[in-house]
Amino acid sequence: MTGAEAILVLGHTGLLGRAVVEACGPGCMVVDDERRAFDLGRESAGPPAGARVEPGEAGDSLSWMVANLPRYPRDAAQVHRGIELMRLGILRLKPALVINCAGYTAVDKAESEPELAMAVNAKGAEAVAKACRQAGAGLVHVSTDYVFDGLARRPYREDDPPGPVNAYGRAKLAGERLVLAAHPGACVARSAWLFGPGRASFVDKVLALARRGGPLKVVTDQVGSPTYTRDLAPVLVELGKKGVPGVIHAVNLGQASRYELARRTLALCGLDPELAQPALSRDFNLPAQRPAYSVLDGRRLARLRGGPLPSWLDGLRRHLTETTGDNPGWEQAR
Ligand SMILES: NC(=O)c1ccc[n+]([C@@H]2O[C@H](COP(=O)([O-])OP(=O)(O)OC[C@H]3O[C@@H](n4cnc5c(N)ncnc54)[C@H](OP(=O)(O)O)[C@@H]3O)[C@@H](O)[C@H]2O)c1
Repeated sequence: MTGAEAILVLGHTGLLGRAVVEACGPGCMVVDDERRAFDLGRESAGPPAGARVEPGEAGDSLSWMVANLPRYPRDAAQVHRGIELMRLGILRLKPALVINCAGYTAVDKAESEPELAMAVNAKGAEAVAKACRQAGAGLVHVSTDYVFDGLARRPYREDDPPGPVNAYGRAKLAGERLVLAAHPGACVARSAWLFGPGRASFVDKVLALARRGGPLKVVTDQVGSPTYTRDLAPVLVELGKKGVPGVIHAVNLGQASRYELARRTLALCGLDPELAQPALSRDFNLPAQRPAYSVLDGRRLARLRGGPLPSWLDGLRRHLTETTGDNPGWEQAR
């Protein structure tokens, strides 16, 4: 394997990143101890003194950077651990493609720390895009249905005007724009309502609560596109390998409310769907408002692939078959 064929996955410890690593197969590179090396929310002023940028070989890991940190003066190592180190790493490894699944994803917390959400999801994402452009690497950047206001009455298309209703969505939208300005050949893949193995999602939290006996209040007034990470991940790899530019919606087929998703989850696991009680968003008084309707129209992707992704219900069935039982395959909710 050479660098020219390799795919670097950023955010490989996350819900989606894990599935993307699985989908990439042997051509995949990840950064050891990535979060410590590549904090995308941390600005850095320039390369650490003595840093060398050399052509890399696939199969390399970026642990060299962490290992080499003690060679730099302690302060410089602290200062430069952020996005500059990420840039150097991409330049050295020269992957053919970067799939950026790293991001600030705490939707409610973002309301009280909007600067950090913006630093990671906008400035950090832009820095990744600039580094990819400089290294001649393709880029797939992952974005979200939360860039929309939720007032539509039909699925959102790629060119519908965005209008985020929360700080997380505003940061992700800013990131989309900065990424495309920095790397016009990049693909911005918007997805939604992810579930899959490796990290607890809404689906897993519903199951955990139900198994503790409930009660379980779930909103009926948020409708979206639930998506299985193992269906999405190979699509991101395919989009990157084909070099599809611009914004594209990548979700499982169909739509559901959170309430319907919860009931289907319970039923598929042999639990009583009546454990889920209907509720409204306003009953929860969460810091971040959510779009009421954020279903994404996947027809651009279906035209490119020659068909849509499987339905979310089909994806949910596979997720629950593959990850429940003695070995649930997901960590406790963080
Ligand atoms: N989950 C969803 O329902 C959903 C829906 C639509 C779009 N998306 C988008 O899909 C992407 C992946 O989401 P996910 O659900 O897989 O998120 P996740 O499970 O929270 O994983 C996020 C990843 O980013 C890393 N990360 C967080 N802050 C960072 C920072 N400051 N610097 C560098 N890396 C950082 C995390 O590292 P740690 O392991 O150290 O935390 C983790 O690897 C994100 O861009 C998100 O906006 C998600």
